[in-house]
Amino acid sequence: MARPPFTRRTAWDRTENPLSALIAVARAQGRDLVDLTESNPTRCHIADTAPLVSLLGHARGASYAPLPLGHPAAREAVAAAFRERGLMACADRVVLSASTSEAYGWLFKLLCERGDRVLVPSPSYPLFDFLARLEDVELVPYPLVAEEGWRIDLGAVERAADEAEGRARAIVLVHPNNPTGTFVRRAESQALEAIAAARGMALIVDEVFAEFPHGALPPDRLSSFAGEREALTFVLGGLSKSLLLPQLKLGWTLACGPDDLVAEALGRLEFLADTYLSVATPVQLALPEILARRHSIQAAARARTAANLAALDRAIARAGEEAAVRRLPSDGGWCAILEVPRTRSEDEWVEILVRDHGVIVHPGYFFDMDREGALVVSLLPPEETFAAAIGRVVSAVAHG
Ligand SMILES: Cc1ncc(COP(=O)(O)O)c(C=O)c1O
Repeated sequence: MARPPFTRRTAWDRTENPLSALIAVARAQGRDLVDLTESNPTRCHIADTAPLVSLLGHARGASYAPLPLGHPAAREAVAAAFRERGLMACADRVVLSASTSEAYGWLFKLLCERGDRVLVPSPSYPLFDFLARLEDVELVPYPLVAEEGWRIDLGAVERAADEAEGRARAIVLVHPNNPTGTFVRRAESQALEAIAAARGMALIVDEVFAEFPHGALPPDRLSSFAGEREALTFVLGGLSKSLLLPQLKLGWTLACGPDDLVAEALGRLEFLADTYLSVATPVQLALPEILARRHSIQAAARARTAANLAALDRAIARAGEEAAVRRLPSDGGWCAILEVPRTRSEDEWVEILVRDHGVIVHPGYFFDMDREGALVVSLLPPEETFAAAIGRVVSAVAHG
């Protein structure tokens, strides 16, 4: 029988990665592991979101009116939430999608021909490779400089844009970045806007963690890219992080920038979204009520990350000066980066922690950190679980 060829873009490496293999072995041996990579908020007991989910059962969801960009009341609720934060936004510039991942896919389809380039931060979150590959887009990483508080290497951005010979279509920013937790500095945002506007590139700004700063932002940081912008700018967010509801499958994109470019983009996105009509009606109709509850949910998530950061800092302080483990400073988000001695590879540290101490952490290279010596932990697990496990991590690393 002839075999279908299948595409190159779906020829993934599906072999098990070393971390998954290690975990499978430990579990098969009956080990009770604490997962400090857990980033699924529905497993972390942060806030009771069940009443929000039950809003989807309302009878209003029984009728269907296909509206590609989203139900007007839902789009208005998203815009109003931006305005409440002091940011400029109007409903007719909001596009709903099933997730921010889907929104990335739509924006790549909107902006890129096959082989066009998109600039992405490095280190950052590892989904871009998959998203870009599915749209036949080439990614060009631009470095964030670790030694300088993850400063964006603007020279590298400019060079990457120019070397693409007119094929660089967008600059992606993750704001705050995952896992470094850095918000873009105001001066960086202005420079990036100028680079994009001068070359007809768009900015795609992933703000899924923007409402989770660790306290007041330093004055040199921008809180959001929503507002008047010189370049065509898409600000992405969604229920998955903002309301701890990834299972509801609703994300949003706010288009900002020059009116004519925004109008053209929205006109095209309307057709694109119409092709899929992927956002379910019940969640759209419940969105105003769901968003109305965001303050208490977000406060609970911020309290959780603050408590776990404090536990991490206490564990490091207890280990003493010679412990050679340090937490990298960050402005916000749901994880922390531990700097650990390079006497062992990241894989070795991870293996020791799983095998001898029953704790799962991520190696830094999962997020494209280019040097050994970093481990990444999620700040979402319940406080007691986190405190006990991070104590074990810090003392294991301290004792080498
Ligand atoms: C920076 C960032 N953007 C987007 C997403 C995905 O969000 P969504 O569930 O809306 O696709 C994640 C998920 O971890 C993320 O870390």
